[in-house]
Amino acid sequence: MKFLIGGESFYNPLTILGRNIFNINAYLDNNYEYRYNYFTGGGIYSLYYILMHLDIISEEYCLLPSYINPSIPELFDKLKIHYKYYRINSNLKIDLDFLDKIIDKKCKAFLVIDYFGFHHDNETNQYINNIKIKGISVIQDIVQAFLPKYSLIGDYCFNSFRKFIPVDGSVILSRNKLNIQNKRKNLSYLICRHSARIIRFLEVELNINTSKLYLYLYNLSETKYYNYYNIKFDIYNKTLLQKINIDDIVNKRRSRYNQLLNILYEKALIKEMPADVIPLGFPIITDNRDKLKKTLAKMNIYCSVHWELFSNILQNNHSESVLLSNNILTFPINDSVNDSNFLRYLEIIKSMVK
Ligand SMILES: Cc1ncc(COP(=O)(O)O)c(C=O)c1O
Repeated sequence: MKFLIGGESFYNPLTILGRNIFNINAYLDNNYEYRYNYFTGGGIYSLYYILMHLDIISEEYCLLPSYINPSIPELFDKLKIHYKYYRINSNLKIDLDFLDKIIDKKCKAFLVIDYFGFHHDNETNQYINNIKIKGISVIQDIVQAFLPKYSLIGDYCFNSFRKFIPVDGSVILSRNKLNIQNKRKNLSYLICRHSARIIRFLEVELNINTSKLYLYLYNLSETKYYNYYNIKFDIYNKTLLQKINIDDIVNKRRSRYNQLLNILYEKALIKEMPADVIPLGFPIITDNRDKLKKTLAKMNIYCSVHWELFSNILQNNHSESVLLSNNILTFPINDSVNDSNFLRYLEIIKSMVK
């Protein structure tokens, strides 16, 4: 088996032939108190449907965190919905004093992101609950949190399966009925992304070098992904989701997070993992980020930057978020390697991260 670890989780094409072991509807019923749930083809598509429902008119706006995946403000721009940024500090906490100063009557919605799968602290959650009392709709982005065990505060919440398992899709949890119409398939995306996953599977299993082809297909799939926003959760992905051992996935991620915390405590961005969290990855802060990322890539360890920020944040005096964006690096903790390769990965990291 080839030594290679990256952000994408392990995909064995034979999984689809296995028996059903996961019932998503039962999971949602048992873990969350939302009246409605809806499935779509991905996280950004779920947000699209939530925004369509909220119908934010031209003089109104949505508050977005300054530390954010660029695909979100891009969606707002495409839909011509106004937004303002609130401040996120370099420890990923919301600057509540700043928020107090900018929030006003025109604010229709507030988007909160649970970074790397971690919920905000009690003071922040209390603040967000007060926002709801003012009649502002809260959208909770749990894309980096998978199917979290903690209680959710959003009026609308949405996740993304592909960040944790090789399944393209997302679920919206909602207190209100949504009108989800005109859903279509994004076949070109699905073909490119699944081909990329199969190529990676073969590369690792057969120890061959197909990295260039993998990257080509992966990048192509990402460009196809944003062609349309009204995309449905298709039957292949729906079936695949039922075949995946979710407990194994969660336990492995939590254990790998803790193993990294043991060796990289000083550099860790988040130094404690509560029992109800399913972590996306292990973010560190380092001042030689780009060099480290390149060196590790040469050793088949592919780390991600969450995120290179959208240009209008850089111009808007959100210096703490910019600092974070310049120095952050996320180490994968998924199941893309077996346990013995994970130990080798830990040894390499231990020697490389100073
Ligand atoms: C915080 C956050 N929200 C939303 C999205 C969009 O999710 P998807 O890629 O499933 O469309 C992403 C994507 O990485 C994200 O990181």
